[in-house]
Amino acid sequence: MTHFPIQDFSKLSTPFYYYDIDCLLKTLQVIEDETKGRPNFHVHYAVKANANPRILQIIAQHGLGADCVSGGEILAASEAGFVGNKIVYAGVGKSDWEIRTALEKGIHSFNVESLPELDVINQIAGEMGKCAHVAFRINPNVDAHTHAKITTGLNENKFGIAMEDMVTAIRHAQELGNVKYTGLHFHIGSQILDLSVYVSLCNRINELQNILESEGIVTDNINVGGGLGIDYDNPDGNPIPDFKQYFELFEKHLQLRNGQQLHFELGRSVVAQCGSLIARTLYVKEGHSKKFVIVDAGFTELIRPAMYGSHHYTENISAQASNSESKTEIYDVVGPICESSDVFSTGESLSKTHRGDFIAFRSAGAYGEVMASTYNCRKLPVAVYSDSI
Ligand code: LLP
Repeated sequence: MTHFPIQDFSKLSTPFYYYDIDCLLKTLQVIEDETKGRPNFHVHYAVKANANPRILQIIAQHGLGADCVSGGEILAASEAGFVGNKIVYAGVGKSDWEIRTALEKGIHSFNVESLPELDVINQIAGEMGKCAHVAFRINPNVDAHTHAKITTGLNENKFGIAMEDMVTAIRHAQELGNVKYTGLHFHIGSQILDLSVYVSLCNRINELQNILESEGIVTDNINVGGGLGIDYDNPDGNPIPDFKQYFELFEKHLQLRNGQQLHFELGRSVVAQCGSLIARTLYVKEGHSKKFVIVDAGFTELIRPAMYGSHHYTENISAQASNSESKTEIYDVVGPICESSDVFSTGESLSKTHRGDFIAFRSAGAYGEVMASTYNCRKLPVAVYSDSI
């Protein structure tokens, strides 16, 4: 039984993203409740998950910082009200204008991913008469047990600096005049449901901190990245991830040194459950061995199924509204894009579906709207908010 709020979408043109603002506010409230007794915990919202201006504004108003991966995201975050000194900036390929933008905005720190990048930041900061605060992104070689395309902490990949190079990198930073070493950064992957991998991360950080201490290196900030997963199968049963358990885990397993600040970069867990992609059924096509529900949204609006093989809980909300839920049929739910990968799901059990029915793809608030494209000369989807419909 769904709890999808029954709304009158009949006058709206599809496809569009529907944001349940109440769900977002409740999620932010839980984050606030779980961190307010821990003044050294700082949550930066990972803007890459959803950069919709209204969503950003709401998150900024709740006092979170921002985790950005481009100059564009830094500008979007600033515009939405995130203060500069709560912005952290990661990315393996920061261009000169992006570094300048970050310095102009007075960001909290650069998460530096290579030594050549460190030298360029030092040079640009010098030209601007500024000192850049830098944290090094260290690859902790911890398996996040998640989808291969969103695992980042294992072995050598384009992200971060190897553990064995950590001390050399910090020493190098200490020799430069326009950067200040302020911390370590980690990110092991996304959609992490097995929280024990964070215990492994904490253990690894504890080991690295011992090395730093023996070298006499003082580290002000530890940033553990993001990655907390959400329940894609049961969005109504679990609309808010277990932040309590998540924050408690770090409190328990991470041995922070005196005065050290702990930073988080949470994206998906903040916004995924508040968003749904709403499409309209164009045709129900009876094939020989299967039936297709062809909707007016495709991977141009929500690329996750095509890109990662992800499944978004799918509902015929028109059938539910008219109480004809009992009769279900099995469909392949597909979009209109001229590519065979434009499939939302196969063997989907939906209430008997007719042309014109609204279909909701749930848990699409993260990496949905923000990854939309105009392929096939399509328009980018618009956003509709529950409090202004
Ligand atoms: N910090 C860093 C350095 C990251 O690379 C990411 C995500 C995050 C934080 C936020 O992670 P989150 O809390 O959202 O898991 N498009 C993919 C997910 C890509 C994640 C990329 N990095 C998807 O739709 O599943």
